[in-house]
Amino acid sequence: MTEKLNGLLKEALSELSKASAKEAVLLIKAKYLGRKGEIPSLLKEMGALPPEGRKQAGEAINRAKDRLEEEVEKALSSFQEREKEEKLRKERVDITLPGRRIPPGGKHPVTQIMNEVEEIFYGLGFDIEEGPEVELDYYNFEALNLPKDHPARDMQDTFYINEEVLLRTHTSPVQIRVMEKKRPPLRVIAPGTVYRRDSDITHTPMFHQVEGFMVDKGVTFSNLKGVLTLFLHKLFGEDTGIRFRPSFFPFTEPSAEIDIRCVICGGKGCRVCKGSGWLEILGAGMIHPGVFRAVNYDTEEYSGFAFGLGIERIAMLKFGIDDLRLFFENDLRFLRQF
Ligand code: PHE
Repeated sequence: MTEKLNGLLKEALSELSKASAKEAVLLIKAKYLGRKGEIPSLLKEMGALPPEGRKQAGEAINRAKDRLEEEVEKALSSFQEREKEEKLRKERVDITLPGRRIPPGGKHPVTQIMNEVEEIFYGLGFDIEEGPEVELDYYNFEALNLPKDHPARDMQDTFYINEEVLLRTHTSPVQIRVMEKKRPPLRVIAPGTVYRRDSDITHTPMFHQVEGFMVDKGVTFSNLKGVLTLFLHKLFGEDTGIRFRPSFFPFTEPSAEIDIRCVICGGKGCRVCKGSGWLEILGAGMIHPGVFRAVNYDTEEYSGFAFGLGIERIAMLKFGIDDLRLFFENDLRFLRQF
């Protein structure tokens, strides 16, 4: 019996050492340890032994069984380990591969300056309003004190759609549209696109303006001067020189143009300021009584100032760009610099 047991154990261990897969181990396990396996059957044969030998034989069989069970478990777990490693190797992701970049967009330099201007006036309590780019002649000219035969219409080369409809040549019509709807006190800026028949290195047929106006009881030219000085100092720096020059616009009286000290040469005179040392930045003035009459405001009760500025011109000066057309070519090599 002992011989038979030892033989079985040896055989089982040798088969186990040759097993090449989990399935083979399981077959060996069933063959030797299963309910009808070789080793449990030995336990049944024990009944034929004399009682003295039974105990010894039982112990020997149980030892062999434990030993084999242990070996089977070892073999199984080693195969399981191998399977797990194999799975990990297959599912491996190379995290050192560079990812696909989503290129971030950037704000166009014109938008940047527009936002900056809006930010400053927003801080001064101005509301932001918008008007249509396809505008009626009435809002673009007539209500702004520019009747049909007025010679000052020549100041702006207009794209007409028909007799009464045009592409707005400035943002000033938003003054009328807002005043028609609302009563003073008003503090408003109106940013937007405007159109003129003009094209060279300092003019494009489309460009951007910001209109601004303030209407209330007792608004004076010194309010205009104070607000615009503060604005220009915020935009170009606190020690930028500023001058107010008398000028003419049909919708303001008195009218002024406002210059800053040339940011390129500091006032000595250069190509950009055409030797004058000054750069024209803003058109402005006290709103003309004819404009107030068009919106039924009592000119005895209310007064106000208005101004308009070109955004591209400011962007050119702030970023040192010498050709306006660069803004509209959408060349990424240019745009990426801002
Ligand atoms: N609308 C004028 C222009 O485009 C600018 C302006 C606005 C002047 C408001 C005075 C008051 O040239």
